[in-house]
Amino acid sequence: MDKLVIEGGKPLSGTIVIQGAKNAALPILAASLLAKGTTTIDSVPHLLDIDVMLNILRELGCRAEHTGNTVVLDTTSAHTSHVPESLMKQMRSSIFLMGPLLSRFGEAQVYQPGGCAIGERKIDLHLQGLQSLGAEIVEVGNRIVCRASKLTGADIHLSFPSVGATENIMMAAVLAEGRTTLSNAAREPEIQDLQRFLNAMGAKIMGAGTDTITIDGVDQLTPCRYKVIPDRIVTGTVMVAAAATRGQVTLQETQPAHLSSLIHVMRRAGVQIVVDGDIIKVGSSARPKAVERIVTSPYPAFPTDLQSQIMVLLSLADGVSILKETIFEGRLKHVDELSRMGADIRVDLNAAFIRGVPRLYGATVEATDLRAGAALVIAGLAAQGRTVVEQVHHIDRGYDRIETMLTRLGARISRSSPVPQAPNH
Ligand code: EPZ
Repeated sequence: MDKLVIEGGKPLSGTIVIQGAKNAALPILAASLLAKGTTTIDSVPHLLDIDVMLNILRELGCRAEHTGNTVVLDTTSAHTSHVPESLMKQMRSSIFLMGPLLSRFGEAQVYQPGGCAIGERKIDLHLQGLQSLGAEIVEVGNRIVCRASKLTGADIHLSFPSVGATENIMMAAVLAEGRTTLSNAAREPEIQDLQRFLNAMGAKIMGAGTDTITIDGVDQLTPCRYKVIPDRIVTGTVMVAAAATRGQVTLQETQPAHLSSLIHVMRRAGVQIVVDGDIIKVGSSARPKAVERIVTSPYPAFPTDLQSQIMVLLSLADGVSILKETIFEGRLKHVDELSRMGADIRVDLNAAFIRGVPRLYGATVEATDLRAGAALVIAGLAAQGRTVVEQVHHIDRGYDRIETMLTRLGARISRSSPVPQAPNH
C-alpha cells in the first residue's frame, strides 16, 4: 500500500487550479445512462471513485474513455441492469445508479452498499423514494431487486435531506409520467449541477438548490456535452492547508459561493481570505484563533466533508474550539491520529473539544477514510518533522494525485510505493 512522506513546517505558497467535483461527476456519469448515445463530460478528475464508476458503466455495456479530464461515454450498448456486487463494494455511492437503471430498463439489481468507516450509510430514503414512484423492491439477502413496469410522478418528502436519495429520485423521475415534487430535498451545489446536466439533456427540472425540487417527466433524453463544477471540498482542503502552514496560496477556477460557511469560519479564525470572481486568495502569518463552536449540517451549513480538515487548523489555534459532527456517526476517527501528532482533543459523543497547541509533531499515522486522510496530510504539512501517512488509497478516492498538487505549492511531500516482492521460487 502506498504511503505519503511529508517533511512539515514549510508554508505553502503559489497558485493552484482546482479539479472538477467528484461528487458532481459521479451522479452525472450515472445519469448519462438515461440517454442512448454518446455523452461527453469535461473536468472529470482522475480518482479511484471515478474509475470504479466507469468500470460499472462498462460492466453494464457502455463504452467509456477517460482522456485528460474528459470522459466520453457511449451508452448505446448498455444491456443489463445488474451492478456486480464486487464493484458496489468498492464504492457505496454507486447506489444512485438505481434511479437511472430503473428509468432506462424498468429494473435495477444492486447490493446493500453496507457501512463504512464514517457510518452506517443507510439507503432507506432512496428505496422509499423509488417506491413512491411505483417501483417494487425485493431484498434477497443483500441483493436488492427493483422493478417498475411504469414510473409515475409523485409527491415525495424526505425525512432527511439526503444528497444521494435526492439524486436517485431526480434520476428516476425525469422519464416518469407526470410531475414529481420532492420536498426537504438536499440543496448541495452538486444537486444543482445534476439538474443543469439533466436539463441539458432535455429534462424539465426546477428548484435544485432549494428544499423543493419539481420534475416534470419527459418522453426521452438526448446525449449532451457538459462540464462539471469545481470541487468545493478539494478547494476547502487546500484553503485550510494554506492557513495551517501560515502560507499564501491563490486558488483558481473555484466557486467561492459554494464555500461561504468555510470562508466565514476561517475568517473568524483570523485567516485572510480575499475572493475575486473564481479566485480565492488565502493567507496567514499568525497562529489561528479558536472558533467557539462549529456544527456540521446539510448545505449551506458547514459541510461534514471539511470537518476533519478544519479540525487540524483549530488544533493549532490559540484557545478552545468545539466541533460537532451531526451528519455521520463515525466521522471523528482522525482525532486519535491527530492526538498522536500532539493535538489536544477530547471527544464526547459526536463533539470534539479542541484545545489548541502551539505546534504538531510528525508521526506515522493512518488514513481511516477519504477526508480524514486529507486532514492528516494537512497536519503533516504543518507539523514539525516527518509524517508518514499510510492507507493512502483512501485519499486517492477523492484527490487527483494529492502529492503532485501540493508539491506545486512548495510542499515537501512524496509518495512511496512498496517495492513489489520478488515471487518466491
Ligand atoms: C454524499 O454522500 C457525499 N458523497 C458525501 O461525500 C457527503 O459526505 C454526504 O453526501 C453529505 O454531504 C457523494 O456525493 C458521492 P447522504 P451520501 O445521503 O449521499 C443518512 C466524500 O467525502 N441517510 O446525504 O451518502 C446517512 O446515513 C463523501 O466525498 C439515511 O439515513 O450522503 C447519513 O448519516 C463522504 N438514509 C446522512 O443521511 C438514506 O437513505 C447523510 O447521507 C440516506 C442517507
